[in-house]
Amino acid sequence: MFSRFYARISPRLEDEGMADLRRELLDELTGEVVEVGAGNGLNFAHYPNTVTDVQAIEPEPYLRGLATRAADSAAVPVTVLAGTADRLPLPDDSVDAAVLCLVMCSLDDRSAALAELRRVLRPRGTLRFLEHTIAETPGLRMAQRVADATVWPLLAGGCHTATDPAGAITAAGFEITSIRKLRFPENRFTQPSSPHVLGSAELRT
Ligand SMILES: C[S@@+](CC[C@H](N)C(=O)[O-])C[C@H]1O[C@@H](n2cnc3c(N)ncnc32)[C@H](O)[C@@H]1O
Repeated sequence: MFSRFYARISPRLEDEGMADLRRELLDELTGEVVEVGAGNGLNFAHYPNTVTDVQAIEPEPYLRGLATRAADSAAVPVTVLAGTADRLPLPDDSVDAAVLCLVMCSLDDRSAALAELRRVLRPRGTLRFLEHTIAETPGLRMAQRVADATVWPLLAGGCHTATDPAGAITAAGFEITSIRKLRFPENRFTQPSSPHVLGSAELRT
């Protein structure tokens, strides 16, 4: 149910600024890339032409079908594959960069997923991320915890908003080289899912 809901609402969020965030997320990426949890493929149009190949992994069949269609019209070569974050269908040391976009919040085991990225990334590979994050203010943080313990994961495909993606990325052996905190959507009332982090990290050797 969430997959169909996401496919319907996500294009609307693009016009509210998500398309700009996707461009910033993928700006100046180069070489071979893995995108984990590609959903309906809304990032594909924003890869710069310095990217030579994208392996887009999506476990959910309905979204994977939509992503496969989006891949046909992407400006760079995109291959859509079934798989999960903790078991990527890619060899060791096979990509220059990895992209996580609105995915970490719904992973049961973030450290297993990040360990899998370490396996497939080449030495000093890049990780780009745009993820929900725990709020800085106590009130919103409390609202996130209540939402996470009640309806939010049920309504939003297992998403938990009070997570710390930057902390998990650092703990997994990446060095964060840039990070920006933001609220999205900016022009609507604040929700538990509003706080985000957008950044880049490098695999420590
Ligand atoms: C909120 S959607 C984001 C989709 C897309 N990345 C985007 O930016 O629009 C979350 C995505 O994570 C995927 N996902 C959930 N659990 C996953 C897992 N264990 N491994 C890989 N992807 C997963 C879902 O199927 C869904 O496509």
